[in-house]
Amino acid sequence: MSEAEEDSSEYAEESEEEDPSTGPDSEDLESEPDDEEMEVLKKYLSVNDKSLDDLELPPKVVKSTVRAWDSFVGVFERKESAADAIYGAFFDAAPNLQGMFRAPRATMGLRILTGITSFVHAAHDATLLRRQVEAVAFNHLDLDVTAPRVEIFREATMEVFDLELGALFGTRARMGLSSIMTYAGGAYIFCRKEYAGRIRLLLRSWNTAAKKGDDVDQIEDLDSKSDEEEEEEEVAQERVEVDPTKSQEGGKNSQLKVPTTFDEMFLFNAAVMGYSNSTWMKFILEYFDPIVTNVANSYRLQEACDVLSLNLAKCKGEINLPEFKAVMLASLRSLVPKEWNSQHEVAWNWLWENVERLLTKQLGKPRAQQKALERFVVNLSQDALTGYCRDVYKRFFQLAPSGQDFFKQSTTRLFFIAEKIVEMTVEMYRTPKKMVEELSGLGLRHVGYGVPTELFSPYVTAAVEIVRGFTTDDTTETAFAWSLTLIAKIMVRTLVEGSTVVMQAINTNIEKNLKKAIAVAPRGKRAMELLNITVGTQSISPLYWAIESGSLVCAQAMIEDLLTIRADRDNYYYGADALFTRHPEVIKKLSSSAPSLLETLLEGLVWRSRVISNGTRRVNCYCKHLMQDVDGNPHQALQWLVEYGNPVIISQFTIVLVADLIWTRLAAYHFLLGRCYFLFTLCVAVTSQSFLSYSKASKTPETLESNTVVFVCRIFLYLGSMGKILYGQIRCFQADCRNGDIDRSFYIPIPQYLFSLKEAGNFLLLWILVCMCIEEPLWHCGVWSTTETALIFSTHCETVEENGSKRRYTGFSCVAILLYWALLLDFSIFSMHISAYVLVFGRVLSEVALFVMALAFVVVAFATSIMALEHDFVEMASMDEWLLSLTEMSLGMFHPDYYRSLNSESNVLIVVIIFMLIVSIILVNLLVAQLNQAYQHVYTDMQGYARLNRASVIVATLEGISNKRWGRFLRGMNFEERLEFNEGDVGLAGGVQIVEPAAAHIVTVDSIRRFGGSSAPTMPWPDEEDSMEDRFDRLEKLIVSSVKKMGKGRSKKKKTKDNGSSVLASLSGATDEGSDGSGSGSD
Ligand code: HEM
Repeated sequence: MSEAEEDSSEYAEESEEEDPSTGPDSEDLESEPDDEEMEVLKKYLSVNDKSLDDLELPPKVVKSTVRAWDSFVGVFERKESAADAIYGAFFDAAPNLQGMFRAPRATMGLRILTGITSFVHAAHDATLLRRQVEAVAFNHLDLDVTAPRVEIFREATMEVFDLELGALFGTRARMGLSSIMTYAGGAYIFCRKEYAGRIRLLLRSWNTAAKKGDDVDQIEDLDSKSDEEEEEEEVAQERVEVDPTKSQEGGKNSQLKVPTTFDEMFLFNAAVMGYSNSTWMKFILEYFDPIVTNVANSYRLQEACDVLSLNLAKCKGEINLPEFKAVMLASLRSLVPKEWNSQHEVAWNWLWENVERLLTKQLGKPRAQQKALERFVVNLSQDALTGYCRDVYKRFFQLAPSGQDFFKQSTTRLFFIAEKIVEMTVEMYRTPKKMVEELSGLGLRHVGYGVPTELFSPYVTAAVEIVRGFTTDDTTETAFAWSLTLIAKIMVRTLVEGSTVVMQAINTNIEKNLKKAIAVAPRGKRAMELLNITVGTQSISPLYWAIESGSLVCAQAMIEDLLTIRADRDNYYYGADALFTRHPEVIKKLSSSAPSLLETLLEGLVWRSRVISNGTRRVNCYCKHLMQDVDGNPHQALQWLVEYGNPVIISQFTIVLVADLIWTRLAAYHFLLGRCYFLFTLCVAVTSQSFLSYSKASKTPETLESNTVVFVCRIFLYLGSMGKILYGQIRCFQADCRNGDIDRSFYIPIPQYLFSLKEAGNFLLLWILVCMCIEEPLWHCGVWSTTETALIFSTHCETVEENGSKRRYTGFSCVAILLYWALLLDFSIFSMHISAYVLVFGRVLSEVALFVMALAFVVVAFATSIMALEHDFVEMASMDEWLLSLTEMSLGMFHPDYYRSLNSESNVLIVVIIFMLIVSIILVNLLVAQLNQAYQHVYTDMQGYARLNRASVIVATLEGISNKRWGRFLRGMNFEERLEFNEGDVGLAGGVQIVEPAAAHIVTVDSIRRFGGSSAPTMPWPDEEDSMEDRFDRLEKLIVSSVKKMGKGRSKKKKTKDNGSSVLASLSGATDEGSDGSGSGSD
């Protein structure tokens, strides 16, 4: 296992190694292998599972194989297609082996292609090839690879090559590739036999020691147990059964804390053995689980050991690894007493030897490397850094030209990334643990960028090369290379683990690809494949990635897929729960980043029956997650939609239903309750200011009773109404100040709450009430006066009339009453029609304001111009009289008799006629046209705006509702009860059912997709009906492959006729014939 590991420098240098396929070679590689070569090749064509020797292929064979392999991959437009061709051929050849592959087809195909590519390219170096084959063999430990299966796979691959390359696939290449594949297959079987038992033993005992247990099933699959092992287990079992004293003893000491986990036992043993001061052991302990669980994955094991070595570098004192082994074995023996035997000793010793070797290689180096690298980075001038960034990309693009396709950003951004990567190399030494976490996230983001793993190696090579030019210090260079290699390794692993077919499909933004990718997912996990990819502690959501990267076609297909109800005999599958649990804020996300998908989401929450009964149909609306969040509190969905402010979305069936349910069952009552007080205040205000207010004109004498009522009402107005409004305003002001919601766009700071019409009205009313309070005649006329002229609580006395305060007071009072009525307008939300009318009124007001402005301008212009004229009008000799008169004329309030008096002054008459022409013909008609247009503009959205208004009131009302009432409301919604689809067909919970008139929506196809066959949650859904396009695609492929096969068939006939000696000769002959058309005659 360990031999298969590449060390860091090799990783960086790998891409620099000479590629045998690219060297200048004029030799005819398609010629027949000579006898010597044949002799060598023959012996590699049978599967050798007895030992793992080196595969020494003749150089020419290697070159031919590499060339053939690259040509094969090059035939296809995309690497995925090449992978699919090989994978498909294997599947067709051995359909019964399909169950062996658990990963999706595209992933598996790519893995196979990548694996064989690395073998073919390493074939020139037998040791490298062996190490690579061995490394891959560890990933095959849980697969039942056998010699016949290896041959089937090999032959299937050869067939695809024949089909695609024809004559180009010469005998040398064929035998070379066959040998490599046979060799790899033999190696898999050998490694499986050799190490599987040992690894199974390790994992099994580790699961017992670490108290995992759940994963034992997986280990069972690794290999069938040998009889010997089974016997031993049985004996151990019996031993436990007949030894009850042990447990009794344990019972006696139960007060003592007995270590039960591996970590506890280890620390206990370490203390007993005198290593309690060896803090480094704790670091290893932290990484011990990933080390043991990844024992079969050499690449991952190396990574864990590298990170561990960085952590160990932080420990002071001597590190003596054999001491850890002693404590480890002692702990394991205590924790796995029943099963422990000599085989366990051997297995754990073997594991530790490998770990020790990997750690020792790096131990002691990180500290010096960190220092050197830090010094290098700190001393790097800005110019040098810029030079480095420029050169890195230049060199990288030389090494891997395809890398240019991924870096589309500006140079400054690229330089920023390159600088960040340099910083990361230092940070890796400083805080390895944190970096590993961050790299998982970064790796997952690179999955989203669609970066292929093979580009990492050239990037590392380029970076190391350029750094080499900047320093002569070996330690610095090694430190940089080692750290960057480790970073790249972690990212590549994350990329491999996180590169699901769904993510790959998202990168193409093609719906068909996404559907294909998700089609293979088990039905029970389908939703989560679209919503979550986890690597380590980091996770990414493919759906969110699709939205963020602008792959909205895929995002829409994902939402549609999630919200499609599918069913087998046993279960209904619907992704709404998974979607809202994973992304409770999905409505907010969509409204800010992809509003076009909101409709798709909301429509997906509704099911309509195809069956009509009594002219109505059932409608199930799965709106639970729009009403309550995961903790059962009111959901913010409505609030987000109000903030989004789109009248079309708020009028969606689902949202209307949700809003209406909350409104009618809960919020309306609370809203009314809250407004009752205001209604009362209005009544009080009107009573005291309008009905009972004394005025000279009314000629009714003051009475003590009416004065007392007015006094009480006004005291209530100042304390009960003004006080309450003041309290509300202070709270809003405080909240805005606290949150920094102050708007300065009008040069004066305005708290945000004042932009709400209602609050602005309240603010104004408050100040009017304050002014009323100051000018209040009650205080000025002497409250307790009982003179003959003034009664007690009188508001009528000479003082207030003389100094004009009564006039001012009544003015304020008039405005206050108007404001009270205006604030009452929010009662209109009880009816959407009235509310819509009010809103339209508000929206066209701006047009009226324009008219008023224009009118004022014209009036002032004409009044001043008339004042410039010489005339004998004694009645209208001043400016203000003309202003008033012209205004009255435009509003039709000017008395007709006055017009007659104008006849004597012809010059004034002409000006007035022009004025009237402008006002009554142009301005008034313009206003009509404006109002018309504005009304038409808002008419379509009128209801939507009304709904937005009501939704905002609902949101505000919900804030003040107690948890108890909310809980009662939720219980009333009965979201736990499963709703019937059609009669007797009990379906999904989490919604409400209503009936609607059948004509409201025409439904011809049931939106539930039902499938027969197996109902196991692990099974994918059977293929849904193909689209026409798919069928044509398949037909085209079939025709192409048939034509190729026909060509091949002809070549075989020819071969028999000619009795040709070699496969190569016959194939090329046939192809030539076929291509010039002469072959058809012979058929
Ligand atoms: C050791 C290897 C690498 C490291 C440490 C690394 C690190 C980073 C970092 C830190 C960013 C910044 C943006 C973010 O946080 O997502 C980034 C962005 C990116 N990387 Fe890498 N990267 C590596 C290799 C590569 C390679 C080989 C490619 C492909 C040729 C690549 C393609 C990208 C792309 C396309 C972006 C997005 C840039 C943007 O949108 O601004 N990276 N990488």
